Amino acid sequence: MSKVTSSTLIKFKQEGKKFTALTAYDASFAGAFDSEGVDVLLVGDSLGMVLQGHDDTLPVTVADIAYHTACVKRGISRSLLIADMPFMSYSTPQQTMENAALLMQAGANMVKVEGGHWLLESVKMLTERGIPVCAHLGLTPQSVHVFGGFKVQGRDAENAQRILDEAKALQAAGAQLLVVECIPPQLAKAITEALTIPVIGIGAGADTDGQILVMHDVLGISSGYIPRFSKNYLKQTGEIRSAIRAYIDEVSAGTFPAEEHTFN
Ligand code: KIV
Ligand code: NA
Repeated sequence: MSKVTSSTLIKFKQEGKKFTALTAYDASFAGAFDSEGVDVLLVGDSLGMVLQGHDDTLPVTVADIAYHTACVKRGISRSLLIADMPFMSYSTPQQTMENAALLMQAGANMVKVEGGHWLLESVKMLTERGIPVCAHLGLTPQSVHVFGGFKVQGRDAENAQRILDEAKALQAAGAQLLVVECIPPQLAKAITEALTIPVIGIGAGADTDGQILVMHDVLGISSGYIPRFSKNYLKQTGEIRSAIRAYIDEVSAGTFPAEEHTFN
């Protein structure tokens, strides 16, 4: 199968074909996810929590993401590979360029940044210089201490409108993909319909163009609490590759996420 690019994902959106994304941090798991047909792999800064054992994503460094991106890259052939830019690695446009370049040189096909209006100049600069950008709105975990916890965002009309406006502005600035995390399904639907770029949801209902989950949640190995929007596919299948196929099948069929996984 040919390599997934941003054009492939736009085509999926236009055809109404739901696509699947998953986090990955090493060559072996990434290789299995890639060969089972996961379209997008993300070296998420969630690795600070699931690999390093921190309480949040703030301690993760560019070197950490670059290392895991290089590992994942060696294991895959088809999936689009996105690398997260970690906390405070993109606070100015100049710093953003330098750190994004390191992640692209480590093997990423695209970088992901959390935030809205304040990021527009950086998104434009990255795109103009050849670095594709995935934006991330809603519950942006690097801002957990501003939010006062991992809380659903965009519940009131004013915040919902701000998130929709930011999504449009990020697309206009050049973003080629958008992740929306933990927002009401109606808002995720409105954003997905308003944008021409594909929208990937996590805890955002079934109406986005694609879905993403953290691999440790899908395989039921997250320590302690499993987020309500996630699903342990290993439990129903008993085998890792079958679990991944079940996730892909349910996303394609529109049966995941179900009502119980969304914030209404
Ligand atoms: O770091 C991560 O895993 C993420 C996804 C959950 C979207 O940003
Ligand atoms: Na992340």
